[in-house]
Amino acid sequence: MSLRAIKWSENKLHVLDQLLLPGKTEYVTVTNVEEGWQVINRMQVRGAPAIAIVGCLSLATELIHSSFKDKDELLKAISEKIHYLVTARPTAVNMKRAADQLTSFSKRLHRENVSLAEMVSLVIEWCQKMLEDDVSTNKKIGDFGAESILKSVKDRKVKLLTHCNTGSLATAGYGTALGVVRSIYGSGQLAQAYCTETRPYNQGARLTAYELVFEKMPGVLICDSMAGALMNNHKIDAVVVGADRVTRNGDTANKIGTYQLAVVAKHHNVPFYVCAPTTSIDLSLAEGKDIPIEERPHTEMTDVAGVRIASPGISCWNPAFDVTPAELITGGIVTELGVFKPAELYDRLRAQKL
Ligand code: MRU
Repeated sequence: MSLRAIKWSENKLHVLDQLLLPGKTEYVTVTNVEEGWQVINRMQVRGAPAIAIVGCLSLATELIHSSFKDKDELLKAISEKIHYLVTARPTAVNMKRAADQLTSFSKRLHRENVSLAEMVSLVIEWCQKMLEDDVSTNKKIGDFGAESILKSVKDRKVKLLTHCNTGSLATAGYGTALGVVRSIYGSGQLAQAYCTETRPYNQGARLTAYELVFEKMPGVLICDSMAGALMNNHKIDAVVVGADRVTRNGDTANKIGTYQLAVVAKHHNVPFYVCAPTTSIDLSLAEGKDIPIEERPHTEMTDVAGVRIASPGISCWNPAFDVTPAELITGGIVTELGVFKPAELYDRLRAQKL
């Protein structure tokens, strides 16, 4: 059985509380959009795809328990509430994309010969489908990434480095960059998966390490500051990371610390892969400097498990993400449609009408 961050059954949404992992496995029940906004903003659920799925399902569960006088009122509620959810965390584009798509789907239902009750259930179905679609998308990403990496080393066992958490806990299942690790492990070719601690929020130490142990994959935890030495001493074959937003030119926002890994990887000639569904690609933005970067509370840096470790009185800067320029993404951008060089991303996706 694999880990599940999001459970949807009998029209109820349960979200694994990632603030408690790895110590406790507890699910929070989300009954409406406001609670959905809160679990996303507090990072009880996190990871770009999981944020979008939980956001949409929180709307679905609210719709089930609401009544509307007509389709006009329903459309207004859907569009306002789904766009409110986008404000919970600004950097990952998946929630915004889902909001735009769900709004245009709802507008179409509003225009068409569909009853109020049918419109509600079709919108709920649309949200539920995100769960299944995400898992199949991730398996494709895993297999495309594995194929590319294994081909580049001529099919010997590989050592990979990953950052943050991009696994089952950040998605509906399987994962993106960790999905690539999983696919390589499944083919018997994984020598070692190194994961960074990922300060300040410790997604690597708390969540990726947990997933690696849970799945019995050969995993090794390092502190963020050890990545340079690791690449210098341990012959890493590839770095695989996720993405919160990829712009038209291939620049990629991902968890803080990704940029410095890409710089070090380039220095050591280690291929650097960004692994993400096309729902994380934002063709409306030309380059990475246009991406809004979320800043998080200082206590995430100064305190560990509620205990202050930083000197009182010190000022802090706590950006949750950084931008890796396209030229450092040397391995490629792994999507469910294939592996693209950043420079070919725009044309390849336009050809798919994305
Ligand atoms: O702040 P987080 O934990 O939501 O950040 C997560 C990441 O940066 C992931 O790499 C990204 O969302 C991709 S998850 C498949």
